[in-house]
Amino acid sequence: MLFIFPDVSSVADYVSDVLINTIKNKPDMVLGAATGGTMEPIYAHFIQQVRQQQVDVSRLVTFNLDEYVGLSAHHPKSYAAYMHQHLFQHLNFNTAKLYLPDGQAQNLEEHCFEYSTRVQHYGGINLQLLGVGGNGHIGFNEPGTSFDSRCHVVQLSEQTRIDNSRFFAENAIVPASAITMGIQDIMDADEVLLVATGISKSAIMAAYYQNDVTEAIPLTILKRHPSAKIILDEAAASLLPDSVRQCAVSLAT
Ligand code: GLP
Repeated sequence: MLFIFPDVSSVADYVSDVLINTIKNKPDMVLGAATGGTMEPIYAHFIQQVRQQQVDVSRLVTFNLDEYVGLSAHHPKSYAAYMHQHLFQHLNFNTAKLYLPDGQAQNLEEHCFEYSTRVQHYGGINLQLLGVGGNGHIGFNEPGTSFDSRCHVVQLSEQTRIDNSRFFAENAIVPASAITMGIQDIMDADEVLLVATGISKSAIMAAYYQNDVTEAIPLTILKRHPSAKIILDEAAASLLPDSVRQCAVSLAT
């Protein structure tokens, strides 16, 4: 299902509405959490609405998609620090139920296996938030990643390191590798919300609709997900062909 909103703020409103409704129906739901610039306004709206509506998030379980290898949870550029800054510290979460891959795990392969297993132990992800990289990566599953993949260590592409260098002081210190939940882990989620905003995502979103499912563009796997919502602002939707735009769900009342 495709949704196109006029701007980032209405995207964030919609996504946090879906999230809050899911939590109200299932207070111990398992949320697949994502990071990146796209998620910042979404978490900000979510925090605001949780407070306004007095939603209890203390029973929520969260699993983050990915983490840089080599960064401790206290490193300011780690995704653990991102989650703390943009979401966790603001609400009454149970910190024992907030999981992220450990970028400093002694045995990374073993850690990845345990991470996927722990997700399954909780019964899988109920709602997976997802952003997309300019090259079509989801989580840190770079082009060419097997659709069968589970949590694993990945070498980041040069493009991804350049894209993400804006969060670091200089490109040289963007880690070369990361842990990511695999594509199969993502596809196992009951529901996926893929969010893309801004003109920099317009080409990859057009590519999503113009290509068949291919490992060369990991994002395309979502065409096979039974309950994936593609949520865009006008800028990210600006290169979509008219035939695709016409299929967008209208939420106008
Ligand atoms: C990063 C993250 C992804 C994220 C994507 C988009 O590399 N690993 O999980 O979805 O890139 O990031 P942004 O929202 O900053 O464009």
